[in-house]
Amino acid sequence: MRIVVTGAAGFIGSTLCEALIDAGHEVVGVDAFIPYYPREVKEMNLANLRGTAGFRFHEMDLRTGELEPCVEGADAIIHEAAMAGLMRSWTDLELYVSCNILATNRLIEAAMQAGVGRFVLASTSSVYGREAVGNEDRPLEPSSPYGITKLACEKLVLAHVAMSDFPATIIRYFSIYGPRQRPDMAYHRFIEAMLDGQPITVYGDGEQTRSNTYVSDAVRGTILALERGERGGIYNVGGGRTISLNQAIETIAGHLGVKPVIRTEPARPGDQRHTSADISRARAGLGYEPTTDPEDGLGMQVAWHVQRREQGRP
Ligand SMILES: NC(=O)c1ccc[n+]([C@@H]2O[C@H](COP(=O)([O-])OP(=O)(O)OC[C@H]3O[C@@H](n4cnc5c(N)ncnc54)[C@H](O)[C@@H]3O)[C@@H](O)[C@H]2O)c1
Repeated sequence: MRIVVTGAAGFIGSTLCEALIDAGHEVVGVDAFIPYYPREVKEMNLANLRGTAGFRFHEMDLRTGELEPCVEGADAIIHEAAMAGLMRSWTDLELYVSCNILATNRLIEAAMQAGVGRFVLASTSSVYGREAVGNEDRPLEPSSPYGITKLACEKLVLAHVAMSDFPATIIRYFSIYGPRQRPDMAYHRFIEAMLDGQPITVYGDGEQTRSNTYVSDAVRGTILALERGERGGIYNVGGGRTISLNQAIETIAGHLGVKPVIRTEPARPGDQRHTSADISRARAGLGYEPTTDPEDGLGMQVAWHVQRREQGRP
């Protein structure tokens, strides 16, 4: 298949592109290098893909670019591009509204115009709000502007499914981690601080829990949703074992052989308290099963950070 992946230079998008190429697909990557974190980090994410047979890259902003040439002739689109991260959405709503809602709408319109046969939207557990425990039918009460814009993306997709039979499926990721994790995300910050011998900052009491999903599990769930997802279907793509932030810190410190120094600050507005994905629907409908335990997954992320430093990479 020829598959367009938006957000291809990002953490999940780049990993997904590599998996799709490995599976024999032709991939058209799109990204605008939005400077939420440095371009050189994203260029490193793309390093393996650039020059790979079957991979084409368009540097393009979905809000303004000419989308038709990218989507023309595509069999499917996997829409990963977004302004991710919750905190900045309190102060930079315009960026979140434009990159998430307006860009998604333009992409849907281009996909429909070109008659693209499949569309997968990468959504988030943040649409559930502070407590994201349970299945897809729990109430949607996002507690941050980020979550609200992602819920709006879901609703846009579903409106087009209902009105025009748009062939789309939605997946909701739960706290993805592993190599290339975004620099603003907790485990990335913790590992870097511990490697520098610096204190780590924990917001709240550290007893918040996460349905952590290792990135290759998330990627597998995404590809299964592409292959088997129902039109208009929504699937939680979560990890297997839910752990607290304190347990994650202990695991990371164990892998690094250090004793972490923890500074505590009050919980931040909009932070989720507990996330625990009920993945029964994805298991039954897609055949999705996460296989990486947080103990092993955090070990692989730690190894990536160490290797990156040894190689002097950004
Ligand atoms: N990482 C997680 O734990 C997590 C959890 C839930 C949902 N998600 C969702 O998964 C997707 C990927 O997240 P990520 O963690 O890989 O983030 P990321 O920031 O690493 O990747 C997103 C990419 O999208 C690009 N982008 C943003 N706006 C764009 C625009 N207007 N035009 C073109 N490109 C644009 C950015 O430049 C970036 O490279 C997002 O939709 C996010 O909401 C992520």
